[in-house]
Amino acid sequence: MRFSLATAALLAGPALAAPPAPRHDDKDVGLNALAQRAGKLWFGTAADIPGTDETTDAAYLKILENPANFGEITPANAMKFMYTEPEQNVFNYTGGDYVLNLAERHGQRVRCHNLVWASQLSDFVNNGNWTKESLTAVMRNHIFHVVQHFGRRCYSWDVVNEALNGDGTFSSSIWYDTIGEDYFYLAFQYAQEALAEIHANDVKLYYNDYGIENPGTKADAVHNLVKELRKRDIRIDGIGLESHFEVGFTPSLQDQLSTKQGYIALGLDVAITELDVRFTQAPYYDAAGEKQQAQDYYTSVSSCIEAGPKCIGITVWDFDDKYSWVPYTFAGQGGADIYNATLQAKPAYYAIADALQGKACSVC
Ligand code: GLA
Repeated sequence: MRFSLATAALLAGPALAAPPAPRHDDKDVGLNALAQRAGKLWFGTAADIPGTDETTDAAYLKILENPANFGEITPANAMKFMYTEPEQNVFNYTGGDYVLNLAERHGQRVRCHNLVWASQLSDFVNNGNWTKESLTAVMRNHIFHVVQHFGRRCYSWDVVNEALNGDGTFSSSIWYDTIGEDYFYLAFQYAQEALAEIHANDVKLYYNDYGIENPGTKADAVHNLVKELRKRDIRIDGIGLESHFEVGFTPSLQDQLSTKQGYIALGLDVAITELDVRFTQAPYYDAAGEKQQAQDYYTSVSSCIEAGPKCIGITVWDFDDKYSWVPYTFAGQGGADIYNATLQAKPAYYAIADALQGKACSVC
């Protein structure tokens, strides 16, 4: 027998006092504990800490810092180029170290994110007058410094982020436009070499992107990139499937599963790295919408469970609507996360708990 979410909230005590219980028979068990029981390395979340009031938001931190809830934290911004190398050859690791310290205090792991991407670059990169050689040297210098600073504290690095267009061609970026497609392979080569120099070969190297969670041209292109890396004898360990979806338009279980199995068949790990399911228009919190959203989360998490241990874990792109990136990027859209803006768990939370336990969805 189940009881309603309202009853669950009452039983959980005063508002915000404790992370919500996923099920009445599992009151003290959070999503990470359930994920680990299911053989995953973690259920994790992005956290944007420095520069936002997440740093001081006690109610938020109480949920974030509980390893029963989250076994992994991805710094949403702090390790990106514009923060780690704001001026050429001037490195700043404050934000990244902050997240690592916080995670390590609570026994949580960190997916380090990211080294080479078109966005959130420093002005000196965007505005430089580069040749192929000089920009390649900038990329190499950045990768070596950042990778070697954080070292084995990173479980993995997203070495290249979002390199492809929807049709599978390389997307325009200062990297691609100046260096050509070699930038992609060189980035992995430099990350591998930087780790080897500090005897940290166990730090995993990932390619991370969206639109590669279901079969199609873009997923095929990822297969080709992996094959090309292999041909060049360069290591890649995993594919990060961002999984930013829209309510009602999440790829089907079968599509998500077969795509994961495709990458796994190449000998790779896969991870769901940025999961959220946004409403493209208000209302964000009506019962029918939340039920569909719960189903969408359930489908994605189930695909990772069904893919087996090579789908290593699931990370949501922050866990509450207060700190979601969605309203800032897509005007009028929101409600994408598993807790609302006052940290009450939504049906999606309970759907994930069911998926992690291999149960039918009780709230979908
Ligand atoms: C992409 C990036 C993330 C983040 C989100 C939006 O998915 O990989 O780092 O910037 O966009 O916040």
